[in-house]
Amino acid sequence: MQAAVITGGGSGLGLALAKVYGKKYDKIILIGRNLKKLQNAKRLLEDEGVSCSIDQVDITDPGQADDFAKRAFHENAIRLLINNAGVGHFGPAETLSPAQVHEMIDTNVKGTIFMSQAFIRHFKEKGAGEILQIISTAGLRGKVNESVYNASKFAVRGYTEGLRKELAAADISIKAAYMGGMDTPFWVNSSHISDKSRLRDPLSIAQQIADQSLETDDILFD
Ligand SMILES: NC(=O)c1ccc[n+]([C@@H]2O[C@H](COP(=O)([O-])OP(=O)(O)OC[C@H]3O[C@@H](n4cnc5c(N)ncnc54)[C@H](OP(=O)(O)O)[C@@H]3O)[C@@H](O)[C@H]2O)c1
Repeated sequence: MQAAVITGGGSGLGLALAKVYGKKYDKIILIGRNLKKLQNAKRLLEDEGVSCSIDQVDITDPGQADDFAKRAFHENAIRLLINNAGVGHFGPAETLSPAQVHEMIDTNVKGTIFMSQAFIRHFKEKGAGEILQIISTAGLRGKVNESVYNASKFAVRGYTEGLRKELAAADISIKAAYMGGMDTPFWVNSSHISDKSRLRDPLSIAQQIADQSLETDDILFD
């Protein structure tokens, strides 16, 4: 019985990935901070016949990441970690508050690193595993009013490329997806995107990620 873990699985792309990967894996484990969101997501997934469990984990806390990984590997045959959780704050570079800068670096960069470390330890013991990093086209090129988000996603890309080389011999596969704007709660409190009708459907992005990850390590959109 193979299981996949999705961070930030209570909404947006994470939930869409759970629907798609729920057809490929026997069980999906969703994590996030907001229990209500996770419970709603679990109900939706179970209505679609996906076997699902949830766990409240703040990925910015390495202790929580480690404890969760220990529990999850003890109870399940985990084959895949999708590092999807992320936050974005946008605006002229000099206007971002220290709290916004900290939140983006802590979540997007350190959260991805702490979760990856926690899982790599167990994947090495098992002799196999896969990590899929949800990055963004903001990890490929700079964009106006996205400087710190750009910095965080470039950092995840660098981390991912390093891991891929380091873990090739350990039979742990490291994949990355770089997509543009999607219609998710990510934009709810933001005026950064003026024409939201151009945002893509997260379910179709999730399906393309699952399909393309069978053929390539770097999944590029647009
Ligand atoms: N939407 C876009 O246009 C777009 C484009 C390219 C890339 N992306 C990337 O796609 C990923 C998913 O974003 P989304 O668009 O689906 O937005 P979203 O619906 O806001 O999802 C982000 C998720 O991250 C979780 N999260 C945030 N901080 C966390 C923490 N400290 N610990 C655990 N979970 C945390 C949130 O759950 P809780 O609140 O429950 O913690 C939330 O469910 C992000 O990495 C984002 O950068 C988004």
